[in-house]
Amino acid sequence: MTTTATPLGISHAPTSWMELSACDFVDSRDWARAVDTRDPLSQFRDRFAIPPAADGSQCVYMTGNSLGLKPHGVRELIQEKLEDWATLGVEGHLKARKPWLDYHMRLQPMLAEMTGAHLDEVVAMNTLTVNLHLMMVSFYRPEGRRTKILIEQGAFPSDTYAVRSHIASRGLDPAEHMVTVAPRAGERTLRHEEIIAKIDALGDTLALVLLPGVHYATGQVFDIAAITARARAVGSRVGWDLAHSIGNAELRLHEWGPDFACWCSYKYLCGGPGAVAGCFIHRRHADAHEVPRYLGWWANSPVNRFEMRDHFSPTHGADGWQISNPPILSMAPLLVSLPIFMEAGLGRMRQRSLALSGYLMWLIAQRRPVGVSIVTPSNTHERASQVSILVQRGARSVHHALLGKGIVCDFREPDILRAAPTALASSFEDVWRMVDAFCNEVSTHSPLIGATA
Ligand SMILES: Cc1ncc(COP(=O)(O)O)c(C=O)c1O
Repeated sequence: MTTTATPLGISHAPTSWMELSACDFVDSRDWARAVDTRDPLSQFRDRFAIPPAADGSQCVYMTGNSLGLKPHGVRELIQEKLEDWATLGVEGHLKARKPWLDYHMRLQPMLAEMTGAHLDEVVAMNTLTVNLHLMMVSFYRPEGRRTKILIEQGAFPSDTYAVRSHIASRGLDPAEHMVTVAPRAGERTLRHEEIIAKIDALGDTLALVLLPGVHYATGQVFDIAAITARARAVGSRVGWDLAHSIGNAELRLHEWGPDFACWCSYKYLCGGPGAVAGCFIHRRHADAHEVPRYLGWWANSPVNRFEMRDHFSPTHGADGWQISNPPILSMAPLLVSLPIFMEAGLGRMRQRSLALSGYLMWLIAQRRPVGVSIVTPSNTHERASQVSILVQRGARSVHHALLGKGIVCDFREPDILRAAPTALASSFEDVWRMVDAFCNEVSTHSPLIGATA
Protein backbone atom coordinates (compact mmCIF):
# COMPACT_ATOMS: atom_id res chain seq x y z
CA MET A 1 0.00 0.00 0.00
CA THR A 2 1.29 3.47 -0.83
CA THR A 3 0.78 6.15 1.74
CA THR A 4 -0.09 9.44 0.13
CA ALA A 5 -1.41 12.72 1.45
CA THR A 6 -5.03 13.17 0.47
CA PRO A 7 -7.13 16.27 0.01
CA LEU A 8 -8.43 15.53 3.49
CA GLY A 9 -4.94 15.50 4.87
CA ILE A 10 -5.05 11.83 5.76
CA SER A 11 -1.65 10.36 5.27
CA HIS A 12 -2.64 6.73 5.57
CA ALA A 13 -5.29 6.64 2.83
CA PRO A 14 -4.42 4.14 0.08
CA THR A 15 -4.44 5.33 -3.51
CA SER A 16 -7.26 2.90 -4.29
CA TRP A 17 -9.38 0.33 -2.51
CA MET A 18 -7.79 -2.24 -4.81
CA GLU A 19 -4.69 -1.96 -2.67
CA LEU A 20 -6.54 -2.47 0.57
CA SER A 21 -6.00 -5.39 2.86
CA ALA A 22 -7.27 -5.78 6.38
CA CYS A 23 -4.07 -4.37 7.86
CA ASP A 24 -4.66 -1.11 5.96
CA PHE A 25 -8.17 -0.46 7.27
CA VAL A 26 -8.69 2.45 9.62
CA ASP A 27 -11.68 3.05 11.86
CA SER A 28 -12.40 6.60 10.74
CA ARG A 29 -15.18 8.21 8.74
CA ASP A 30 -12.66 10.57 7.12
CA TRP A 31 -10.47 7.67 6.09
CA ALA A 32 -13.46 5.88 4.55
CA ARG A 33 -14.45 9.04 2.71
CA ALA A 34 -10.92 9.45 1.42
CA VAL A 35 -10.92 5.92 0.03
CA ASP A 36 -14.20 6.69 -1.74
CA THR A 37 -12.74 9.85 -3.22
CA ARG A 38 -9.96 7.89 -4.84
CA ASP A 39 -12.12 5.02 -5.98
CA PRO A 40 -12.50 4.61 -9.75
CA LEU A 41 -15.84 2.84 -9.22
CA SER A 42 -17.31 5.54 -6.95
CA GLN A 43 -18.79 7.38 -9.94
CA PHE A 44 -21.20 4.47 -10.49
CA ARG A 45 -23.09 5.31 -7.32
CA ASP A 46 -24.67 8.23 -9.20
CA ARG A 47 -26.32 5.79 -11.60
CA PHE A 48 -28.68 4.61 -8.87
CA ALA A 49 -31.50 6.28 -6.96
CA ILE A 50 -30.50 6.12 -3.29
CA PRO A 51 -33.66 6.36 -1.16
CA PRO A 52 -33.87 9.33 1.19
CA ALA A 53 -33.68 9.01 4.96
CA ALA A 54 -36.26 10.79 7.15
CA ASP A 55 -34.10 13.94 7.29
CA GLY A 56 -33.94 14.09 3.49
CA SER A 57 -30.30 12.99 3.22
CA GLN A 58 -29.42 9.78 1.36
CA CYS A 59 -29.95 6.71 3.48
CA VAL A 60 -27.25 4.10 3.97
CA TYR A 61 -28.67 1.32 1.82
CA MET A 62 -27.40 -2.13 2.76
CA THR A 63 -30.15 -4.32 1.36
CA GLY A 64 -29.09 -4.91 -2.24
CA ASN A 65 -29.29 -8.59 -1.22
CA SER A 66 -33.04 -8.16 -0.90
CA LEU A 67 -34.01 -5.49 -3.43
CA GLY A 68 -31.40 -3.76 -5.57
CA LEU A 69 -31.69 -0.03 -6.14
CA LYS A 70 -33.40 1.52 -9.14
CA PRO A 71 -30.93 2.59 -11.79
CA HIS A 72 -31.59 5.98 -13.38
CA GLY A 73 -32.98 5.55 -16.87
CA VAL A 74 -35.54 2.89 -15.99
CA ARG A 75 -38.43 5.34 -15.99
CA GLU A 76 -37.50 6.58 -19.48
CA LEU A 77 -37.19 3.05 -20.88
CA ILE A 78 -40.54 1.99 -19.44
CA GLN A 79 -42.03 5.22 -20.74
CA GLU A 80 -40.73 4.24 -24.18
CA LYS A 81 -42.59 0.91 -23.95
CA LEU A 82 -45.78 2.66 -22.90
CA GLU A 83 -45.53 5.12 -25.78
CA ASP A 84 -44.81 2.33 -28.28
CA TRP A 85 -47.82 0.45 -26.95
CA ALA A 86 -50.00 3.55 -27.20
CA THR A 87 -48.93 4.42 -30.72
CA LEU A 88 -48.35 1.01 -32.26
CA GLY A 89 -50.70 -1.33 -30.43
CA VAL A 90 -50.07 -4.93 -31.45
CA GLU A 91 -47.66 -3.83 -34.14
CA GLY A 92 -45.19 -3.07 -31.36
CA HIS A 93 -44.25 -6.76 -31.37
CA LEU A 94 -42.36 -6.07 -34.58
CA LYS A 95 -42.16 -2.29 -34.89
CA ALA A 96 -41.47 -0.99 -31.38
CA ARG A 97 -38.15 0.84 -31.00
CA LYS A 98 -37.00 -2.35 -29.36
CA PRO A 99 -39.41 -4.92 -30.81
CA TRP A 100 -41.12 -7.06 -28.20
CA LEU A 101 -41.08 -10.31 -30.14
CA ASP A 102 -37.49 -11.22 -29.31
CA TYR A 103 -37.00 -8.76 -26.46
CA HIS A 104 -35.59 -11.38 -24.11
CA MET A 105 -32.70 -11.98 -26.50
CA ARG A 106 -31.37 -8.48 -25.76
CA LEU A 107 -30.64 -9.66 -22.23
CA GLN A 108 -28.96 -12.92 -23.21
CA PRO A 109 -25.40 -11.68 -23.91
CA MET A 110 -25.25 -9.85 -20.58
CA LEU A 111 -26.81 -12.72 -18.61
CA ALA A 112 -24.33 -15.06 -20.27
CA GLU A 113 -21.47 -12.85 -19.13
CA MET A 114 -22.87 -12.54 -15.61
CA THR A 115 -23.14 -16.31 -15.25
CA GLY A 116 -20.13 -17.47 -17.28
CA ALA A 117 -22.35 -19.22 -19.77
CA HIS A 118 -22.83 -19.49 -23.51
CA LEU A 119 -25.62 -17.47 -25.11
CA ASP A 120 -27.76 -20.53 -25.70
CA GLU A 121 -27.46 -21.59 -22.05
CA VAL A 122 -29.34 -18.65 -20.50
CA VAL A 123 -32.84 -17.31 -20.73
CA ALA A 124 -34.80 -14.62 -18.87
CA MET A 125 -38.22 -15.98 -17.99
CA ASN A 126 -40.84 -16.37 -15.24
CA THR A 127 -39.88 -16.00 -11.59
CA LEU A 128 -37.37 -17.88 -9.49
CA THR A 129 -39.55 -20.47 -7.77
CA VAL A 130 -41.47 -21.10 -10.99
CA ASN A 131 -38.19 -21.77 -12.77
CA LEU A 132 -37.05 -24.11 -9.99
CA HIS A 133 -40.25 -26.06 -10.57
CA LEU A 134 -39.70 -26.19 -14.32
CA MET A 135 -36.13 -27.35 -13.83
CA MET A 136 -37.18 -30.08 -11.43
CA VAL A 137 -39.71 -31.32 -13.96
CA SER A 138 -36.77 -31.85 -16.29
CA PHE A 139 -33.92 -32.76 -13.98
CA TYR A 140 -35.48 -34.56 -11.03
CA ARG A 141 -36.14 -37.98 -12.54
CA PRO A 142 -36.29 -40.48 -9.67
CA GLU A 143 -35.71 -44.03 -10.82
CA GLY A 144 -34.96 -47.26 -8.94
CA ARG A 145 -32.74 -46.49 -5.95
CA ARG A 146 -31.94 -42.98 -7.25
CA THR A 147 -34.73 -40.94 -5.68
CA LYS A 148 -33.26 -38.46 -3.20
CA ILE A 149 -32.86 -34.70 -3.34
CA LEU A 150 -30.14 -33.13 -1.23
CA ILE A 151 -30.65 -29.57 0.04
CA GLU A 152 -29.14 -27.69 2.93
CA GLN A 153 -30.79 -27.51 6.34
CA GLY A 154 -32.30 -24.05 6.66
CA ALA A 155 -32.74 -23.65 2.90
CA PHE A 156 -34.86 -20.75 1.68
CA PRO A 157 -38.41 -21.94 2.43
CA SER A 158 -39.61 -21.59 -1.15
CA ASP A 159 -36.95 -24.04 -2.31
CA THR A 160 -37.86 -26.50 0.41
CA TYR A 161 -41.55 -26.33 -0.51
CA ALA A 162 -40.75 -26.75 -4.19
CA VAL A 163 -38.54 -29.78 -3.50
CA ARG A 164 -41.11 -31.41 -1.24
CA SER A 165 -43.87 -30.89 -3.75
CA HIS A 166 -41.84 -32.51 -6.55
CA ILE A 167 -41.02 -35.53 -4.44
CA ALA A 168 -44.67 -35.88 -3.45
CA SER A 169 -45.84 -35.41 -7.04
CA ARG A 170 -43.84 -38.52 -8.01
CA GLY A 171 -45.66 -40.54 -5.36
CA LEU A 172 -42.72 -40.50 -2.91
CA ASP A 173 -42.56 -39.43 0.73
CA PRO A 174 -40.69 -36.11 1.16
CA ALA A 175 -39.75 -37.05 4.73
CA GLU A 176 -37.72 -39.92 3.35
CA HIS A 177 -36.52 -38.61 0.01
CA MET A 178 -35.61 -35.02 0.85
CA VAL A 179 -32.27 -35.16 2.61
CA THR A 180 -30.48 -32.25 4.27
CA VAL A 181 -26.91 -31.42 5.11
CA ALA A 182 -26.53 -29.39 8.29
CA PRO A 183 -23.87 -27.30 9.99
CA ARG A 184 -22.05 -29.07 12.81
CA ALA A 185 -23.47 -28.64 16.29
CA GLY A 186 -22.69 -25.15 17.54
CA GLU A 187 -21.84 -23.87 14.05
CA ARG A 188 -23.94 -21.70 11.75
CA THR A 189 -22.32 -22.27 8.37
CA LEU A 190 -21.83 -25.46 6.42
CA ARG A 191 -18.47 -27.07 6.05
CA HIS A 192 -17.56 -27.88 2.48
CA GLU A 193 -16.23 -31.28 3.47
CA GLU A 194 -19.58 -32.15 5.10
CA ILE A 195 -21.41 -31.47 1.83
CA ILE A 196 -18.97 -33.61 -0.11
CA ALA A 197 -19.19 -36.39 2.50
CA LYS A 198 -22.99 -36.30 2.33
CA ILE A 199 -22.94 -36.57 -1.45
CA ASP A 200 -20.58 -39.53 -1.24
CA ALA A 201 -22.68 -41.20 1.44
CA LEU A 202 -25.87 -40.84 -0.62
CA GLY A 203 -24.09 -42.10 -3.73
CA ASP A 204 -26.41 -43.90 -6.13
CA THR A 205 -29.52 -42.91 -4.17
CA LEU A 206 -28.98 -39.27 -5.08
CA ALA A 207 -31.13 -37.95 -7.92
CA LEU A 208 -30.59 -34.21 -7.47
CA VAL A 209 -28.41 -31.83 -5.47
CA LEU A 210 -30.05 -28.42 -5.12
CA LEU A 211 -28.01 -25.87 -3.19
CA PRO A 212 -27.66 -22.09 -3.07
CA GLY A 213 -24.61 -20.40 -4.58
CA VAL A 214 -24.69 -17.96 -1.64
CA HIS A 215 -26.73 -18.80 1.42
CA TYR A 216 -29.47 -16.23 2.00
CA ALA A 217 -29.18 -16.20 5.80
CA THR A 218 -25.47 -16.61 6.39
CA GLY A 219 -24.00 -15.01 3.25
CA GLN A 220 -21.72 -18.05 2.86
CA VAL A 221 -20.51 -18.64 -0.70
CA PHE A 222 -20.37 -22.29 -1.78
CA ASP A 223 -17.84 -23.94 -4.04
CA ILE A 224 -20.13 -24.59 -6.99
CA ALA A 225 -17.37 -26.14 -9.11
CA ALA A 226 -16.25 -28.73 -6.55
CA ILE A 227 -19.74 -29.64 -5.31
CA THR A 228 -21.08 -29.96 -8.84
CA ALA A 229 -18.15 -32.17 -9.85
CA ARG A 230 -18.66 -34.48 -6.86
CA ALA A 231 -22.41 -34.75 -7.36
CA ARG A 232 -21.98 -35.55 -11.04
CA ALA A 233 -19.32 -38.11 -10.15
CA VAL A 234 -21.91 -40.08 -8.16
CA GLY A 235 -24.35 -39.83 -11.08
CA SER A 236 -26.64 -37.14 -9.66
CA ARG A 237 -28.10 -34.14 -11.43
CA VAL A 238 -27.12 -30.77 -9.97
CA GLY A 239 -28.97 -27.45 -9.80
CA TRP A 240 -28.16 -24.16 -8.07
CA ASP A 241 -30.32 -21.41 -6.63
CA LEU A 242 -28.32 -18.32 -7.54
CA ALA A 243 -30.69 -15.71 -6.06
CA HIS A 244 -27.86 -14.31 -3.93
CA SER A 245 -25.01 -15.10 -6.31
CA ILE A 246 -25.75 -13.44 -9.60
CA GLY A 247 -24.25 -9.96 -9.72
CA ASN A 248 -22.49 -10.74 -6.45
CA ALA A 249 -20.23 -13.82 -6.55
CA GLU A 250 -18.10 -15.13 -9.38
CA LEU A 251 -19.92 -17.56 -11.69
CA ARG A 252 -18.50 -19.79 -14.42
CA LEU A 253 -21.46 -22.04 -14.93
CA HIS A 254 -20.60 -23.57 -18.27
CA GLU A 255 -17.19 -24.61 -17.05
CA TRP A 256 -18.42 -25.75 -13.63
CA GLY A 257 -21.02 -27.90 -15.30
CA PRO A 258 -24.28 -27.99 -13.28
CA ASP A 259 -27.36 -29.16 -15.14
CA PHE A 260 -29.26 -26.02 -14.31
CA ALA A 261 -29.30 -22.86 -12.23
CA CYS A 262 -32.04 -20.34 -11.47
CA TRP A 263 -31.96 -16.80 -10.15
CA CYS A 264 -34.14 -13.80 -9.50
CA SER A 265 -33.27 -10.37 -10.83
CA TYR A 266 -34.57 -8.07 -8.13
CA LYS A 267 -31.57 -8.43 -5.80
CA TYR A 268 -28.06 -7.73 -7.07
CA LEU A 269 -29.25 -7.35 -10.67
CA CYS A 270 -31.41 -4.31 -9.80
CA GLY A 271 -34.25 -5.45 -12.06
CA GLY A 272 -36.96 -4.02 -9.77
CA PRO A 273 -39.59 -5.67 -7.56
CA GLY A 274 -40.83 -8.95 -9.01
CA ALA A 275 -38.53 -8.61 -12.05
CA VAL A 276 -38.36 -11.40 -14.58
CA ALA A 277 -36.07 -14.19 -13.37
CA GLY A 278 -33.49 -16.22 -15.25
CA CYS A 279 -32.37 -19.74 -15.89
CA PHE A 280 -29.20 -21.52 -16.98
CA ILE A 281 -29.42 -24.91 -18.65
CA HIS A 282 -26.13 -26.52 -19.55
CA ARG A 283 -25.37 -26.90 -23.24
CA ARG A 284 -25.21 -30.67 -22.97
CA HIS A 285 -29.02 -30.54 -22.69
CA ALA A 286 -29.48 -27.94 -25.43
CA ASP A 287 -30.96 -30.39 -27.92
CA ALA A 288 -31.86 -33.19 -25.54
CA HIS A 289 -35.49 -33.19 -26.56
CA GLU A 290 -36.10 -36.41 -24.70
CA VAL A 291 -35.65 -34.52 -21.41
CA PRO A 292 -39.21 -34.08 -20.12
CA ARG A 293 -40.38 -30.51 -19.77
CA TYR A 294 -43.55 -28.52 -19.42
CA LEU A 295 -44.35 -27.05 -22.79
CA GLY A 296 -45.73 -23.73 -23.91
CA TRP A 297 -45.86 -22.13 -27.32
CA TRP A 298 -42.83 -19.91 -26.69
CA ALA A 299 -40.57 -22.97 -26.58
CA ASN A 300 -41.66 -23.85 -30.08
CA SER A 301 -39.07 -22.88 -32.66
CA PRO A 302 -39.67 -19.28 -33.82
CA VAL A 303 -39.72 -20.69 -37.36
CA ASN A 304 -43.07 -22.41 -36.84
CA ARG A 305 -44.32 -20.89 -33.57
CA PHE A 306 -46.90 -18.79 -35.37
CA GLU A 307 -48.15 -21.54 -37.68
CA MET A 308 -50.46 -22.38 -34.79
CA ARG A 309 -50.26 -26.11 -35.47
CA ASP A 310 -50.16 -28.99 -33.02
CA HIS A 311 -46.71 -29.87 -34.26
CA PHE A 312 -44.01 -28.90 -31.75
CA SER A 313 -40.33 -28.51 -32.57
CA PRO A 314 -38.46 -27.25 -29.51
CA THR A 315 -36.11 -24.32 -29.76
CA HIS A 316 -32.43 -25.08 -29.24
CA GLY A 317 -30.93 -24.37 -25.83
CA ALA A 318 -32.37 -22.68 -22.77
CA ASP A 319 -34.90 -20.85 -24.95
CA GLY A 320 -36.55 -24.24 -25.38
CA TRP A 321 -37.74 -24.10 -21.76
CA GLN A 322 -39.76 -20.91 -22.19
CA ILE A 323 -43.49 -21.19 -21.82
CA SER A 324 -45.10 -17.81 -22.42
CA ASN A 325 -44.31 -14.67 -24.34
CA PRO A 326 -41.93 -12.44 -22.39
CA PRO A 327 -43.09 -9.75 -19.88
CA ILE A 328 -41.66 -6.68 -21.58
CA LEU A 329 -42.30 -4.18 -18.77
CA SER A 330 -40.66 -6.48 -16.26
CA MET A 331 -37.62 -7.02 -18.48
CA ALA A 332 -37.00 -3.38 -19.35
CA PRO A 333 -35.19 -2.37 -16.10
CA LEU A 334 -32.60 -5.09 -16.73
CA LEU A 335 -31.77 -3.45 -20.03
CA VAL A 336 -30.70 -0.46 -17.98
CA SER A 337 -28.97 -2.17 -15.06
CA LEU A 338 -27.02 -4.93 -16.80
CA PRO A 339 -25.13 -2.53 -19.11
CA ILE A 340 -23.99 -0.63 -15.99
CA PHE A 341 -22.46 -3.83 -14.62
CA MET A 342 -20.84 -4.58 -17.97
CA GLU A 343 -19.32 -1.10 -18.00
CA ALA A 344 -18.00 -1.36 -14.43
CA GLY A 345 -16.57 -4.84 -15.06
CA LEU A 346 -17.58 -7.91 -13.11
CA GLY A 347 -14.07 -8.61 -11.82
CA ARG A 348 -13.70 -5.11 -10.42
CA MET A 349 -17.17 -5.29 -8.89
CA ARG A 350 -16.30 -8.51 -7.15
CA GLN A 351 -13.06 -7.08 -5.77
CA ARG A 352 -14.87 -4.00 -4.50
CA SER A 353 -17.59 -6.07 -2.80
CA LEU A 354 -14.92 -8.01 -0.99
CA ALA A 355 -13.20 -4.82 0.11
CA LEU A 356 -16.46 -3.32 1.38
CA SER A 357 -17.64 -6.42 3.22
CA GLY A 358 -14.08 -6.95 4.50
CA TYR A 359 -14.08 -3.43 5.92
CA LEU A 360 -17.46 -4.03 7.56
CA MET A 361 -16.25 -7.21 9.23
CA TRP A 362 -13.00 -5.59 10.29
CA LEU A 363 -14.78 -2.62 11.87
CA ILE A 364 -17.03 -4.91 13.90
CA ALA A 365 -14.04 -6.94 15.00
CA GLN A 366 -12.30 -3.74 16.13
CA ARG A 367 -15.29 -2.35 18.01
CA ARG A 368 -16.23 -5.71 19.55
CA PRO A 369 -19.85 -4.88 20.40
CA VAL A 370 -21.03 -7.15 23.19
CA GLY A 371 -23.16 -10.16 22.24
CA VAL A 372 -22.38 -9.76 18.54
CA SER A 373 -20.59 -12.17 16.24
CA ILE A 374 -20.17 -12.45 12.50
CA VAL A 375 -21.74 -15.52 10.94
CA THR A 376 -20.42 -15.06 7.41
CA PRO A 377 -17.05 -16.73 6.88
CA SER A 378 -14.22 -14.21 6.68
CA ASN A 379 -12.11 -15.87 3.98
CA THR A 380 -12.60 -14.36 0.54
CA HIS A 381 -13.58 -17.67 -1.10
CA GLU A 382 -16.61 -18.00 1.13
CA ARG A 383 -18.03 -14.50 1.21
CA ALA A 384 -19.24 -11.80 -1.12
CA SER A 385 -21.26 -8.64 -0.42
CA GLN A 386 -23.45 -9.86 2.41
CA VAL A 387 -22.33 -9.90 6.01
CA SER A 388 -24.65 -11.69 8.41
CA ILE A 389 -24.33 -10.50 11.96
CA LEU A 390 -25.63 -12.48 14.89
CA VAL A 391 -27.05 -10.23 17.58
CA GLN A 392 -27.67 -12.26 20.71
CA ARG A 393 -30.21 -9.94 22.25
CA GLY A 394 -32.53 -7.34 20.87
CA ALA A 395 -31.71 -7.97 17.20
CA ARG A 396 -35.16 -6.88 16.11
CA SER A 397 -34.99 -3.64 18.12
CA VAL A 398 -31.51 -2.87 16.84
CA HIS A 399 -32.76 -3.34 13.28
CA HIS A 400 -35.74 -1.13 13.92
CA ALA A 401 -33.65 1.62 15.49
CA LEU A 402 -31.18 1.56 12.58
CA LEU A 403 -34.04 1.99 10.12
CA GLY A 404 -35.17 5.06 12.07
CA LYS A 405 -31.68 6.51 11.58
CA GLY A 406 -31.71 5.93 7.82
CA ILE A 407 -29.51 2.82 7.97
CA VAL A 408 -31.30 0.16 5.93
CA CYS A 409 -30.22 -3.40 6.79
CA ASP A 410 -32.56 -6.34 7.15
CA PHE A 411 -33.45 -8.79 9.83
CA ARG A 412 -33.97 -12.53 9.60
CA GLU A 413 -35.56 -14.40 12.44
CA PRO A 414 -34.52 -15.08 15.08
CA ASP A 415 -31.27 -13.17 15.55
CA ILE A 416 -29.57 -12.29 12.24
CA LEU A 417 -29.04 -8.83 10.86
CA ARG A 418 -27.98 -8.84 7.23
CA ALA A 419 -25.96 -5.99 5.72
CA ALA A 420 -24.92 -6.11 2.10
CA PRO A 421 -22.86 -3.18 0.82
CA THR A 422 -23.09 -3.59 -2.95
CA ALA A 423 -20.19 -3.08 -5.30
CA LEU A 424 -21.49 -0.03 -7.16
CA ALA A 425 -24.09 1.70 -4.99
CA SER A 426 -22.39 1.50 -1.58
CA SER A 427 -19.40 3.42 -0.30
CA PHE A 428 -16.77 2.87 2.35
CA GLU A 429 -18.31 5.79 4.20
CA ASP A 430 -21.67 3.97 4.15
CA VAL A 431 -20.00 0.97 5.73
CA TRP A 432 -18.41 3.08 8.43
CA ARG A 433 -21.68 4.86 9.19
CA MET A 434 -23.55 1.57 9.33
CA VAL A 435 -21.12 -0.07 11.75
CA ASP A 436 -20.88 3.04 13.90
CA ALA A 437 -24.67 3.30 14.21
CA PHE A 438 -24.99 -0.45 14.72
CA CYS A 439 -22.49 -0.55 17.59
CA ASN A 440 -24.22 2.39 19.27
CA GLU A 441 -27.60 0.69 18.98
CA VAL A 442 -26.29 -2.62 20.28
CA SER A 443 -24.98 -0.95 23.41
CA THR A 444 -28.34 0.80 23.86
CA HIS A 445 -30.50 -2.25 23.21
CA SER A 446 -28.44 -4.88 24.99
CA PRO A 447 -27.59 -3.08 28.23
CA LEU A 448 -27.89 -6.28 30.25
CA ILE A 449 -25.24 -8.08 28.27
CA GLY A 450 -23.07 -4.99 28.36
CA ALA A 451 -23.37 -4.84 32.14
CA THR A 452 -22.35 -8.41 32.74
CA ALA A 453 -19.66 -8.88 30.09
C1 LIG B 1 -32.55 -18.02 -2.02
C2 LIG B 1 -33.92 -17.69 -2.51
N1 LIG B 1 -34.62 -18.64 -3.14
C3 LIG B 1 -35.88 -18.41 -3.57
C4 LIG B 1 -36.48 -17.18 -3.39
C5 LIG B 1 -37.90 -16.99 -3.86
O1 LIG B 1 -37.94 -16.12 -4.93
P1 LIG B 1 -39.28 -15.82 -5.75
O2 LIG B 1 -40.27 -15.23 -4.83
O3 LIG B 1 -38.81 -14.81 -6.76
O4 LIG B 1 -39.73 -17.09 -6.37
C6 LIG B 1 -35.77 -16.16 -2.74
C7 LIG B 1 -36.38 -14.83 -2.53
O5 LIG B 1 -35.86 -13.94 -1.93
C8 LIG B 1 -34.46 -16.43 -2.29
O6 LIG B 1 -33.75 -15.51 -1.63
